[in-house]
Amino acid sequence: MAQTWTPNSWRQKPIQQVPDYPDLVALEAVEGRLAKFPPLVFAGEARRLKSALANVAEGRGFLLQGGDCAESFAEHGADTIRDFFRAFLQMAVVLTFGAQQPVVKVGRIAGQFAKPRSSGVEKQGDITLPSYRGDIINGIEFTEQARVPNPERQIMAYRQSAATLNLLRAFAMGGYANLENVHQWMLGFVKDSPQAERYRKLADRISETMDFMKAIGITSENHPSLRETDFFTSHEALLLGYEQALTRVDSTSGDWYATSGHMIWIGDRTRQPDHAHIEYCRGIKNPLGLKCGPSLTADGLLELIDLLNPANEAGRLTLICRFGHDKVAEHLPRLIRAVEREGKKVVWSCDPMHGNTITLNNYKTRPFERILSEVESFFQIHRAEGSHPGGIHIEMTGNDVTECTGGARALSGDDLADRYHTHCDPRLNADQALELAFLLAERMKGGRDEKKMVVNG
Ligand code: PEP
Ligand code: CO
Repeated sequence: MAQTWTPNSWRQKPIQQVPDYPDLVALEAVEGRLAKFPPLVFAGEARRLKSALANVAEGRGFLLQGGDCAESFAEHGADTIRDFFRAFLQMAVVLTFGAQQPVVKVGRIAGQFAKPRSSGVEKQGDITLPSYRGDIINGIEFTEQARVPNPERQIMAYRQSAATLNLLRAFAMGGYANLENVHQWMLGFVKDSPQAERYRKLADRISETMDFMKAIGITSENHPSLRETDFFTSHEALLLGYEQALTRVDSTSGDWYATSGHMIWIGDRTRQPDHAHIEYCRGIKNPLGLKCGPSLTADGLLELIDLLNPANEAGRLTLICRFGHDKVAEHLPRLIRAVEREGKKVVWSCDPMHGNTITLNNYKTRPFERILSEVESFFQIHRAEGSHPGGIHIEMTGNDVTECTGGARALSGDDLADRYHTHCDPRLNADQALELAFLLAERMKGGRDEKKMVVNG
């Protein structure tokens, strides 16, 4: 693999999860058009994220990464984006306060359109059709026509990503994220939820602190960090033709960057070391995520780390662990030990969603208790191993959906039918996401107190 890398060298490698485009000429034409479109993000932004993640890798900070499992063309309203953004900001504020550490905010948004599938086909009754692979590839409707991969969808995904990113940048920089608004981020339907009181109390403390700072002359007018926030985008780099078309040389450094999002990750199904997805990702300079599931061996992980981060740069690689609540204790310690033994610099993040999916009343769902249980184990194991539990990766929405069971409102299997809107995997609703943030904040506070005790003792 020491061969020369180019943005298209992945095309020489075996590849998993590729859509079967019937018209390759049309596909090439679309990729050619995309290659002439402006980049969605800039190399300097990706570098800023990398340095924020480097701090996390060194134990100073926490990564909050979350958003839709799959964005959809149908749900592209300003309200959906705003509701996601404020639920996410609320979580970030709760975590920052709990951890007393910077929280690096990365959305699964503005590009999260392509989905790996465990089966290439879907059966309903007597009919078998190609699986839905995300709006960037084909349609979710169960008809033969919708399921044919259509390259024009890549243009639509690009344009939607650009519009989404535009609104997110405005929210992050244009005053919406001002800490003075901390009370107003409360979503309507969360207002009367069990989390509301907890959040209100925390928001009161933040407001009080802001009033004090104002009294001594520190205001959001003279301190941009109080009114602006750094928000980054990420998605799974699954559809490599699209990624290649948006791969550009950065004129400042001469390096190649994926300009489809700030951070991209490699899925659990496409991380074969000699295959196309690893080949593409090793050559671009963005921060990378690597999904680590139960089938990953310690040696396999070390081989991937050497391919993706040969210079062992902190912030380059985030290991997103997704084992399942009942498997994390079996798999995580051996990976941590191998990485620590070899002195590899990584961010350890926990994806408590993808190993905890079950089927209930014909719906794919995730019990909230299992999600919490995997997160708890993740923290405990890192404490025991002396490594830094650096982040969390979740599927969530700002909407009041009923996709995961449990949580403070005790959603049951019978509630799933009410508002089950996801295009792929079940997401936490804003209430459940906030509940998870409070729990995490408590864990992080516990870790801080323990560290203090060690220092003082
Ligand atoms: C995902 O993050 O939506 C996903 C498909 O995850 P994984 O590759 O871990 O299964
Ligand atoms: Co998913």
